[in-house]
Amino acid sequence: ISLKPYNSFGIDVKASYFAEIFSEADLKSLFEDEVTKSQKLLVIGGGSNVLFTKDYEGLVIKISIKGIESIADGGQILVTAGAGEVWNDFVNYCVEHNFAGVENLSLIPGTVGASPIQNIGAYGIELKDVFESCAAFEIKTGQIKTFNFNECHFGYRESIFKGELKGQYIITSVTFRLSTQPAINTSYGAIETELQHRGIEKPTIADVSAAVSHIRVSKLPDPSTIGNAGSFFKNPVIDKHEFAEVVAKHPDVVHYPTADHKIKLAAGWLIEQCGWKGKIVGQTGTWKNQALVLVNHGDATGTEVFDFSEQIIDSVKSSFGVTLEREVNIL
Ligand code: EPU
Repeated sequence: ISLKPYNSFGIDVKASYFAEIFSEADLKSLFEDEVTKSQKLLVIGGGSNVLFTKDYEGLVIKISIKGIESIADGGQILVTAGAGEVWNDFVNYCVEHNFAGVENLSLIPGTVGASPIQNIGAYGIELKDVFESCAAFEIKTGQIKTFNFNECHFGYRESIFKGELKGQYIITSVTFRLSTQPAINTSYGAIETELQHRGIEKPTIADVSAAVSHIRVSKLPDPSTIGNAGSFFKNPVIDKHEFAEVVAKHPDVVHYPTADHKIKLAAGWLIEQCGWKGKIVGQTGTWKNQALVLVNHGDATGTEVFDFSEQIIDSVKSSFGVTLEREVNIL
C-alpha cells in the first residue's frame, strides 16, 4: 500500500502491511495476531511529523479512534477526545462549545493522539498547559494505562512517549482540562497585532482562533496542496555562554529567554540569514514565508528533502556555530 495519502509531506513510499484502527478493541485484536507480533511497527495519526526516506518494511498502524466527550468540573471542563480526531476539528469543537484553552493551537495539522507525543505548541501555548491525562495501549501486555501530567515528562517538543517509552505505548485518547471562563492569551505579539488590525478590543476565544488561523494560513503552506510537515527543525536552545558568542558576532539574532534560564534562537531567522529562505532545490526547498518549513514542490523523494536539510544544518553550523536539530521524525 502506498503511504502517500498518509503523510503530509506527500512522499510516495510503500508499507509492507497497513492497518486502520477504530477502537481500543481493534487494537487488542490486532495485537493478538501473530503477523503483528513479528513486524516492525509504525503508528501514525495525521502523518504530519514524519519524513519517509524509504519504503516501510513493517506494519503501519493508522489510528482513527473517534469521539469527544466532556464533563464539568467546577469552573473547568474535562474534555476527552479519541486519538484519531483531527486536531483542528477538536479545536473547533472546543471553540464552538466555549471551552477555552486550545484556541491558540488552531490549525495545527495532525491528530489528538499525536499531540502529547511531541507536546505540540504555538502562539504562546503548549499542549502541556491544558493536558490532564491520556490513555494508552501497552503493546507488550495489551492493557490500557492512564498517564497523568507528571508521568508524561513534557518538554519543548518532547515527552516520555518520544523518549524512554518510545515504541511501547499507543495513545488511544487524551483528556484536556479546559475552562468555561476564558483567560485569553494574546502574549504572542502576532496575535495582538492581528486582533488590533481587526479592531477587536475584547476578544472571545473564537476571535483568537480566527486570528491564529489567519496568521498560520498567511505564513505556512497548506499541506493539502504543498507537502510539508510544519517546522522541520526545532528552535535551538543554547546556554548563556554559547549565546554570548553568537550575539557578539550577530547582534540582531532573534532570541527568547526560556524558563530554565537558557536562550532559544529563532531557527527560521538563522536559516533565512544563511540565504535559504524561499530557495527551491530540485523538488524541495524552504517555504517563501517561513524558512523553518521545508516543502515538497511536487515529486520530491524523502532522501532529497533529507539531503537538503543536511545542507541547511551545515550552513547554519558554519555561519553561527549552532547545530539545528530536526523536529520531524526521519524514517
Ligand atoms: N523568522 C525569520 N525568518 C523566517 C521565519 C522566522 O526571521 O523565515 C523569525 C522572525 O523574527 C519571527 C521569529 O523567527 O518573529 C519566530 O517565527 P514564528 O513566529 O514563525 O515562529 P517559529 O519560532 O519559527 C514556532 C513553532 C511553530 C509555531 C510558531 C508560532 C517550533 C519548532 N516551531 O515557530 O510550530 O507555529 O512558533 O508559535 O517551535 C511546528 O512545530 O511544526 C510549528 C509550525
